[in-house]
Amino acid sequence: MKPVRVGLIGCGEIAAKDTLPAIQASGRLKVVAAMDVNLDLARDLAEKGGAAFWTDRAETLAARPDVEAVIVSTPHHLHVPMGLLAARHGKHVLVEKPIATTGADARRLIAACKRKGVILSVLYIRRFEPVARKTAELIRKGVLGRTTGFSLISMGEKKESYWTSGFTGRVVTDWRTRKATSGGGFLMMNFSHNIDLIQSLLGVEPASVYAQYDTFRTPVEVEDYVSVTARYRCGAIGTFLGSTVCPGALRVPDHIFGTHGTIVMDNPLRVFTRKKIRGLKPDEWNEFPLPSARASRADFLTQFAKAVRGQAAPPATGEEALVSLRVIEAAYRSQEERKPIALARGARRS
Ligand SMILES: NC(=O)c1ccc[n+]([C@@H]2O[C@H](COP(=O)([O-])OP(=O)(O)OC[C@H]3O[C@@H](n4cnc5c(N)ncnc54)[C@H](O)[C@@H]3O)[C@@H](O)[C@H]2O)c1
Repeated sequence: MKPVRVGLIGCGEIAAKDTLPAIQASGRLKVVAAMDVNLDLARDLAEKGGAAFWTDRAETLAARPDVEAVIVSTPHHLHVPMGLLAARHGKHVLVEKPIATTGADARRLIAACKRKGVILSVLYIRRFEPVARKTAELIRKGVLGRTTGFSLISMGEKKESYWTSGFTGRVVTDWRTRKATSGGGFLMMNFSHNIDLIQSLLGVEPASVYAQYDTFRTPVEVEDYVSVTARYRCGAIGTFLGSTVCPGALRVPDHIFGTHGTIVMDNPLRVFTRKKIRGLKPDEWNEFPLPSARASRADFLTQFAKAVRGQAAPPATGEEALVSLRVIEAAYRSQEERKPIALARGARRS
């Protein structure tokens, strides 16, 4: 397969730290151009990626005939404008998560990509982690019986500098701190991944969402502590509890519960089941050591490249990413309106 020629829009932390190395590890994509409003960052990434071209104009990159697909790694509020620009030039689109800051924007991008016949994927890489694949396989085998719920707890402490310079300090910026540019705090920034993961594992959308959140300690407009309860269409009741301001909090692995078993999404993955299932001992904990999750971004990119060549389905499509965004929007609305928010089935999907 000929490598898919990509242009990078946004050459900040994630593009340099994770996406470029994953492109190189995949071998199915080749960087031909890089763009950032900070030309030094664009040049740096182009040189590291072996690309001959860099620019500070998105239109210039999107219009290049040698670019087949565009990877957007900008602040959240720019995902849709950049994606639309790429689609207008007939380029396949791969945007970082979340797809957009509002459902209305996400729908515009989904519709534009459909109109132009280009692929739209969103970098929800947790689906490609070995723990997610193994969990999906065990659920398919029936270890849980009927899925009753889950707990996804992510309590930790982020340095205040994270909000203005990420983990590496490559870019100094305030986009993460403002609602207009990030769309939200922990829920939008981090739990978006977990919401997508659960969505892909359960295969059904939530029917209703109730949430409470606050900003306890961080000098930002967005939340640094959030609790969401979601009821899914299969009946499962799940809890997302996350924060960046919990000193000393211990890591809690994700749990998925069912009428006949429990999966603990850790490494080793642990599963307990009352069912008789080949390869598993009933009524006791079974352990499955897993390979590292390091390759998950490269695996995602490989599937995206194969999709461009018509050899695979696109990973994490715009429609699927819209589901997570609708949950997040409903959670924010839930606190504003002090009530659970019902989600219409696949409402106005595209
Ligand atoms: N998938 C993941 O696991 C993961 C992890 C971290 C971050 N992200 C996502 O990646 C995206 C970028 O995050 P980051 O941490 O790299 O942020 P960052 O601030 O380090 O980088 C953003 C880059 O976008 C550039 N930019 C800003 N305005 C632009 C414009 N108009 N045109 C072109 N470039 C512009 C900035 O100069 C900067 O270099 C966000 O969507 C974030 O949520 C994803």
